[in-house]
Amino acid sequence: MQVAPRAIRDGLLIREATRLDAHAVARILKEGADHGLVARSDEVDPGACSRQIEFARAATNSLVVVATIPAGDDDEVVGLLTLEGAPLLRLYDVARLNMAVTPSHHGKGVGRALVQYATECADASGQIRKIELLTRANNERAIRLFTKLGFNEEGRLRARLRRDDGTYLDDVCMARFKP
Ligand SMILES: CC(C)(COP(=O)(O)OP(=O)(O)OC[C@H]1O[C@@H](n2cnc3c(N)ncnc32)[C@H](O)[C@@H]1OP(=O)(O)O)[C@@H](O)C(=O)NCCC(=O)NCCS
Repeated sequence: MQVAPRAIRDGLLIREATRLDAHAVARILKEGADHGLVARSDEVDPGACSRQIEFARAATNSLVVVATIPAGDDDEVVGLLTLEGAPLLRLYDVARLNMAVTPSHHGKGVGRALVQYATECADASGQIRKIELLTRANNERAIRLFTKLGFNEEGRLRARLRRDDGTYLDDVCMARFKP
């Protein structure tokens, strides 16, 4: 899916990711490894990020967007959101959302702006009817964000995620239907 960029405020811009963003995307996913994402930092591969970005640009039911702020002559990626559409025809209008904001920019509205932008793009595309996601049961910040933006809990996957101390944590399944 290809979408137009949007200026939010204070130089905060949301735009579609390109292959050139693959290393910045990988950096944010590595940072998120200690802040609510599932993949460990040593499991994040910039090559895979690049392939996902290219795939999303070509598919009508997928999207990778980044949030950037000005940094000198360049811009700095401070957040990302992916909508990964299923390749199967019977699931083609269902996309899985994943996102992360760089920890030093948490609580500044970047996450909200990314979700609002992506859901609007998904709705406008006519290709995505349902957006699903999984988040850890103790990820209050994410659950509050998604609830405020129209996602509802659909169930729980019990004792799914193994923590470093050997205990397990539930994942919450949330979803939003196109209005
Ligand atoms: C979840 C995450 C994306 C939120 O991004 P963010 O930029 O910090 O969020 P925002 O500043 O836009 O805040 C959005 C909402 O989150 C909630 N929120 C923000 N900070 C919070 C905090 N410290 N405690 C509880 N809720 C909080 C609020 O409901 C807020 O809404 P409001 O602005 O109307 O008050 C970010 O914390 C993150 O990257 N976490 C790690 C990765 C992750 O958990 N991904 C989600 C799984 S898919």
